[in-house]
Amino acid sequence: MSRARIVIISIIAVFIILQLIPVNQINPPVVQKAVLPTEVESILQESCFDCHSHETNWPWYSRIAPGSFLITHDVIEGRKHLNFSDFSNMDAFDSSDVADEILEVLEEGSMPLSPYLVLHPNASLSNSETQIIMEWAKSLRPW
Ligand code: HEC
Repeated sequence: MSRARIVIISIIAVFIILQLIPVNQINPPVVQKAVLPTEVESILQESCFDCHSHETNWPWYSRIAPGSFLITHDVIEGRKHLNFSDFSNMDAFDSSDVADEILEVLEEGSMPLSPYLVLHPNASLSNSETQIIMEWAKSLRPW
């Protein structure tokens, strides 16, 4: 067997073996959905819920390793930081904290994550959408 053929077969073998490593892409049940104004909810749903809720859409390519590892990692990390499907135990302090974090990422323009935007151009927030989310986030603060 030629060297090139061995290399190609090895790459294919590794690719196949990677597919056997389990990743958890089962959406947990919604604990307590955040109560959101309709307009805010539809924007967040389109731009943020894939990583910040239990209502994640898993497209076909999200199931294929090694990309599946990266995507699953972002979803699990995203839910840990902010989860619109688990607003239980939210007291005033928590929600103003969430508001500050949301305002911060919107000011920075750091969310949604840029690799996600490549595959979901519609998730990019327009100026007016950013404005709506910012107004809502400000309204969450007790002061
Ligand atoms: C592709 C997945 C993904 C999408 C889509 C996404 N996020 Fe995130 N988000 C993450 C991850 C991962 C983290 C945690 C790591 C980090 O801060 O980069 C995070 C962190 C955050 C945090 C916490 C930041 C902090 O300082 O702790 C906020 C707030 C946030 N995201 C808001 C949003 C909003 C608002 C949207 C929609 C406009 C959004 N995210 C869309 C993945 C995502």
